[in-house]
Amino acid sequence: MDDKIKTLLINEAKNAAKSAYCPYSEYAVGVALISSDGRVFSGCNIENASYSLTMCAERVALFKAVSDGVRKISAICVFSDCGKMPYPCGACRQALAEFADEGATVIVSDGEHTVETTLEELIPYTFG
Ligand code: THU
Repeated sequence: MDDKIKTLLINEAKNAAKSAYCPYSEYAVGVALISSDGRVFSGCNIENASYSLTMCAERVALFKAVSDGVRKISAICVFSDCGKMPYPCGACRQALAEFADEGATVIVSDGEHTVETTLEELIPYTFG
């Protein structure tokens, strides 16, 4: 993908991670995505004392975008420098697939290493 957009998404995702509300896991995640019409949205994970109410950063960013009228996403970046590489969970992969362009790019970064892949690779045989 375009290097400028990639750098922009990594920086935005890193910045979004600063807003993470994660007192229970202490695993801060930030996400930035770009819609097919070029708009950028970000999100962070939001935890709750009732643990199962926790919302992943990917779905926060996705739902912000969709609620602002976005219907197609061309790329998304997930960032966390809290340890393990922040690959999107299964639930987020399915949620993203609903609104992803064919061949949508997924960038995963832990601040040191960056992996670039596609949503199709992360979730083949999507339910749709
Ligand atoms: N988390 C995300 O934000 N995205 C994922 O794809 C997986 C996990 C968050 C949820 C929780 O706040 C913390 O990471 C630890 O699971």
